[in-house]
Amino acid sequence: MDSIHRLTPLFTSQQIASRIDELALEIKRDYQSRYPLLLGILKGSFVFLADLVRCLDFPVELDFIRVASYSAGKITSGQVKLVSEPVASLTSRHVLIIEDIVDTGLTTDFVGSWLKERGPASVRLCTLLDKPTRRRRLVEVNYRGFIVPNRFIVGYGLDMNEKYRNLPGISVINGE
Ligand code: PRP
Repeated sequence: MDSIHRLTPLFTSQQIASRIDELALEIKRDYQSRYPLLLGILKGSFVFLADLVRCLDFPVELDFIRVASYSAGKITSGQVKLVSEPVASLTSRHVLIIEDIVDTGLTTDFVGSWLKERGPASVRLCTLLDKPTRRRRLVEVNYRGFIVPNRFIVGYGLDMNEKYRNLPGISVINGE
């Protein structure tokens, strides 16, 4: 039987939308003449990427990479593996990685290393959420929505055992 979690709102959908507007302006300033490839890391980034691209009023290409972290519930093992790679050619492209959250940094470190072997012109990282207190890898975040506390966060693409990704806002699961 599923347990019922108590959720405490952290960011409303309005707060997220407003911050994404600001991030989009920064990205436009840096990329509008470069036809960037926005590369979402699945699954968590799908909501953020969908909202972000609709705020970008210049040509962009989209693709996805899917990776998996071996974990049991909330505990990350530290191992990341590639599940499916992008279709787009990455050589000489300006790639902007799109993440929902950077936590330990293991996922973005893995994806960044994987990308660099494919000869992109540049690689940068945009994350909606950043939890720097949990970092295990040095990760340069170029565009950051919000810094978040070291709590278990769900909603807006983020899950707990695959639940809550569909919540429009972001909440802390109490007691986690
Ligand atoms: C989450 C999130 C990031 C990653 C960040 O993905 O979407 O990709 O964790 O954590 P890290 O910085 O500690 O690596 P998860 O592995 O839970 O898979 P999902 O995107 O399919 O939910």
